[in-house]
Amino acid sequence: MPETATNHSVQEFTPDIQNRTASIYERVKHVIPEVEWAIHAPVIAAINDLKRERNAVLLAHNYQTPEIFYGVGDICGDSLGLAQKGAETEADVIVMCGVHFMAETAKIMSPDKTILLPDMDAGCSLAASITGADVRRLKEQYPGVPVVTYVNTTAEVRAEADICCTSANALKIIESLGTERVIFIPDEYLGQYVAAQTDVEIILWKGCCEVHERFTGEELREYRTSYPGIHVMAHPECPQDVLKEADFVGSTTGMIQHVAEEQPEKVVLITECSMSDNVAVEFPSVEFIKPCNLCPYMKKITLPAILRSLQTMSPAIDIPRDISERARLSLEKMLAVGRA
Ligand code: 13P
Ligand code: SF4
Repeated sequence: MPETATNHSVQEFTPDIQNRTASIYERVKHVIPEVEWAIHAPVIAAINDLKRERNAVLLAHNYQTPEIFYGVGDICGDSLGLAQKGAETEADVIVMCGVHFMAETAKIMSPDKTILLPDMDAGCSLAASITGADVRRLKEQYPGVPVVTYVNTTAEVRAEADICCTSANALKIIESLGTERVIFIPDEYLGQYVAAQTDVEIILWKGCCEVHERFTGEELREYRTSYPGIHVMAHPECPQDVLKEADFVGSTTGMIQHVAEEQPEKVVLITECSMSDNVAVEFPSVEFIKPCNLCPYMKKITLPAILRSLQTMSPAIDIPRDISERARLSLEKMLAVGRA
């Protein structure tokens, strides 16, 4: 029976633990089998106890598995929502159940708080596709052209940019600048998607999300044949041929809002696969067809890793002050523009 740093033990699945976690299980029972719950529940109980003791809040991205999202998440959402709400929390400690760039956002917005990322290998292929030096070279190549960076980038890259955006507000942010041209980094597909909707000329970078680039237009057409009447929703990090086949394109939270508004009978979410489980919990009457493209980085975050992180108060995010202060400006400008 492992002991936590603050004398919480991870117990067996006792009747007490079963009682304490019963209301959570009632919500997720359609997506988590009982036999798995017996493993998750004691860790969930230990994490929730430790969160109170540490005055910690747990931010969970929509791609986290349901036992994290519903079991221990306090603030859940897309990367814009986590940035907005994370900046407002009064807690001393933020545990980021998402990826490294999201934890950096939390640190930039709350430099005096402890920001824990349960596994430092929770990266992102988009963030890895560009460096601060690359951005400096782009600025030399296109003097005076503003740089809009997708928030899926390192703090160093954001420090070099004029403004950040997420998939929920990219078009609005680009148009808010009032210029004829912008440099848009690093997601080429998101950049192409926005370019098709605006007169602003967009200079692109060749980064992509290794999860969303795997979808194809052909795959979407097959869903329509196999499931007549299906509502197809896609994340704008997908390639253009995929987005052309979709009925709706939006950020992860945009897709959830769309399901709530339209309540389609059958849905396929062309995005990371835990998202469908999480949304299915909220909309039991909607049938979800679940393609499974996992984000290997999001999946580094597990209940045992979260517990360990809260026990040891590590690993914690640290960003050099000058980078953090410059990156904060581009984030604050984005937050001032808000959601599309
Ligand atoms: P959202 O901003 O839509 O939550 O997306 C973040 C992300 O990493 C998508 O792959
Ligand atoms: Fe990065 Fe893609 Fe994973 Fe999102 S899904 S964190 S963009 S690799």
